[in-house]
Amino acid sequence: MQQTAIDPIRYDTLVQNERVHRSLYTDPHIFTDELEKIFYHGWVFIGHDSEIPQPGDFITRQIGTQSVILVRGTDHTVSALLNRCAHRGTTVCPAERGHARTFTCPYHGWSYDLSGALQGVPYPAGYGESFDKKAYGLTRVPRLESYRGFVFVSLSPSGISLADHLGAAAQLIDRTCNLSPEGEIELSAGWIKHRYPSNWKMLPENDTDGYHLGFVHRSILKAVGSQYRRFVGEEKSIKSVLRDWGKGHTEIDFVPAYQQPFEWFGGVSEGLAASYLAAMERSYGKEETQCRVFDGPPHAFIFPNLFLAEMNIAIMQPVSVDECVQWHTPVFLRGVPEFNKRLLRQSEAAMGPGSFLLPEDVTIASRNQVGLVTRNTEWLELSRGLNREYVDSHQQRVGHMTDETTNRAFWSHYRSVMQNGQA
Ligand code: FES
Ligand SMILES: [Fe+2]
Repeated sequence: MQQTAIDPIRYDTLVQNERVHRSLYTDPHIFTDELEKIFYHGWVFIGHDSEIPQPGDFITRQIGTQSVILVRGTDHTVSALLNRCAHRGTTVCPAERGHARTFTCPYHGWSYDLSGALQGVPYPAGYGESFDKKAYGLTRVPRLESYRGFVFVSLSPSGISLADHLGAAAQLIDRTCNLSPEGEIELSAGWIKHRYPSNWKMLPENDTDGYHLGFVHRSILKAVGSQYRRFVGEEKSIKSVLRDWGKGHTEIDFVPAYQQPFEWFGGVSEGLAASYLAAMERSYGKEETQCRVFDGPPHAFIFPNLFLAEMNIAIMQPVSVDECVQWHTPVFLRGVPEFNKRLLRQSEAAMGPGSFLLPEDVTIASRNQVGLVTRNTEWLELSRGLNREYVDSHQQRVGHMTDETTNRAFWSHYRSVMQNGQA
């Protein structure tokens, strides 16, 4: 099957329930269409409140391939501004994070305040009296909403609310925040980025794919006493499940396999556990604390670019049809600094470039991309578990951990957005 720029792209043909077409990963026209319909029309995760705590603090991120400044203004409100000088288009802010009173364009020195309003232009006499500075501010991203500190933006002035986009999956964000005795997380460790030659959709698919754990991550299972040991082995003995949360949001729910508190943490010393439990119990009481500490954080993907990777947060940043950047940072829990020190070490050992999990996943993603360029074998198979998945009492589709229930959930939502334009 060949698609061209002139043909309307038939997503209902390319995405079927049991298989998807390889061009979805390799066709640059489809990539451009995805930027438009998914990244520029829908909600995307851009950053966290805790990254810009003080007025003047900023970070720069991408919405799709567009550079955006997320900045806290003097009135403490957060704005997302397109990082593009109103004069002739230069990127105004080159830094990934920092603190500023104004943003000054390096080309001809136009300067903007923290709300993006044009403050001054050098040699103003050249513009005459009719020049209206108000018409030359940095363009504001039209919609910005946050949920428990997670900031999402949309480049479209209209569309569904963030609450409708997240739906029931907001509970997954709750579950992360609820592990802090103060009910808040902090992303303050900085981010590590993996740039790799694969389509951006490989990682969302991989993030809640339970089938690959025992193969791609065999090395971590051999090297350390990881909690993931519980999730591989004889098929019938694997108790964890996959969940479709709707709107492309998906989860590997490890909880059914847990047998004791803190299993998600991979073991914790008695002293550290005691101080953490004491802080949690002061906030939530003994019973609620027991529940939270047993269940731990979610392992879930929020469509289209946020991975709640247990005690890490990851962002997928598309670059081109066959290139992507994955960002990650550890989740710190407000109110338990000693616990956070351990979380940082754990993140380095599990996710960083000299570690196991993410390097292994991006290596496989890169090899997928090479494989999918080959011609004459057009389809990727996604039928695993169709014979045994079911809808539970919460109306969620549930599958065995090694099945492809979550992959089908991702693609079903993708097809709906790409075919019908519903974000
Ligand atoms: S392009 Fe920014 S001041 Fe000229
Ligand atoms: Fe993986």
